Amino acid sequence: MMLRGMLSASLLSVVAGCVSGQTPASSPAREQSSHTPALKTVFKDAFLMGVAVSPRQFTESDAVGAALVKAQFNAISPENVLKWEIVHPLPNTYNFTASDQYVDFGKRNGMFVLGHTLVWHSQTPRWVFRDDQGNPLTRDALLARMREHIFTVVGRYKGRIDGWDVVNEALNDDGTLRDSPWHRIIGDDYIVKAFEYAHEADPAAQLNYNDYSVEDPPKRAGVVALIKNLQAHGIQVNSVGVQAHHQLDWPSFEAEDSTIVAFAALGVHVNLSELDVDVLPHATTGNTADVNVNVAANAKLNPYAAGLPDSMQLELARRYAGMFAVYLKHKDVIDRVTLWGVADGVSWLNNWPVRGRTNYPLLFDRAYLPKPAFDSVVARARDQKGMRPIP
Ligand code: GLA
Repeated sequence: MMLRGMLSASLLSVVAGCVSGQTPASSPAREQSSHTPALKTVFKDAFLMGVAVSPRQFTESDAVGAALVKAQFNAISPENVLKWEIVHPLPNTYNFTASDQYVDFGKRNGMFVLGHTLVWHSQTPRWVFRDDQGNPLTRDALLARMREHIFTVVGRYKGRIDGWDVVNEALNDDGTLRDSPWHRIIGDDYIVKAFEYAHEADPAAQLNYNDYSVEDPPKRAGVVALIKNLQAHGIQVNSVGVQAHHQLDWPSFEAEDSTIVAFAALGVHVNLSELDVDVLPHATTGNTADVNVNVAANAKLNPYAAGLPDSMQLELARRYAGMFAVYLKHKDVIDRVTLWGVADGVSWLNNWPVRGRTNYPLLFDRAYLPKPAFDSVVARARDQKGMRPIP
C-alpha cells in the first residue's frame, strides 16, 4: 500500500516503457530504466533467475511490480499463497483462488513455476494435527491427511507447477530432526512419506528439500544425512533449496561454495531458493531464519530509516557480487537463483525478526529502480572470471 502510494505515474510509464521496449523520452530516470539489463537475459546461460511473488504482483494490481517481475525474471515462487494455512484453511475447505492466479501468471509469462510448500511446521493450522475432539491425530490419520493434502494440491497443478518444495525446514540448527508435530506424530519417516506422495501425485515434477542456515556445518551435515536417507529409500529428490537468507557477514563465500559442493556430491542439484541480504544490525544470536522468532523494536536496531548510506550500498553490492561469483562457478548444478521479494519495500525483512524496520535486502529499491547491488551482479555475470573490481 505505502509503496504504491509512493510511485508516480511517470515511473509507472518508465517501467512499462522499458518492458515494452519503447523508445524512452529524455528524462534521466527514463534513460536509466530503458537501459536496465534483464537478469534473466544476463544469466541465461547459467541458471534461471527467480523471484518470490505475492498477489499484488501476480494479479497485476501493482502494475509496476508486475512489469518488473515480467521484465527481469523467468521463475517465480509463491511467497505465501501455496502454504497450507492459505490453500487449505479448514478441514475439507480448499481455497485455490490466489494460487490459480499465481500459476496462471507464471504460465502466461513462460516462467518456471515453483510450488512452496507442502509439509512445514509453520503457517500450518493447528487443526491439521488434531481430530474432531481436539486430540492429537494418530500416525495413520496424520499420514492420510498429509496424503490427501498433497494429492489435492499437487494434483490440481499437475503438469503446470514445475517443481515443489516438498518439505520445508525439517532440521534444527544442530542438524537433528526438528520436534515438529509432523515428526512427533508420524516419526522420522514423515519426510520419506511426503516425497513419496508428491512423486505419486505428479511424477514429472521436480522435488526439493528446502531449509535455511544450511551453510553452517552441523545443519549442512543434517541435510546431507536427510538426502542420503531419501536416496536409500529409493525416493526421488531432485534438489536442495538453500534458502540463502544471508547477512552482510554470513555465510562466508567459502562456506557457500563448500555447501554447494557437498550437496552436489550427493547427485542432486542445488537452488538458491530465497536469497536476500539483511543489512540491519543483528537482532538475534546465530543465523536463524525461523519465521516464528520475534524481537522488540528499538531505534538502534533500525539505523537506516531515512536511507541507506553509500558505504552500505557498496558493501551490499560487494556481497551480492561475491555470492554470484560462487553461483556462476557452480552453474552446472544450479537450476535457479531466486530472490525473496521483488523490491526492498515489500521484503519480509522489514518486519522480521523486528516489526517495522527499514531494510534494504534486495536488488531493486523502494521505487523499484535497480540498486548498485543490481549493477554489481550484472557486472559479475559479464565478467565470469571474476577479475574485474566491482565499482
Ligand atoms: C521461510 C519460508 C518462506 C518464508 C520466509 C519468510 O524461509 O520458507 O516461505 O516464509 O521464511 O518470508
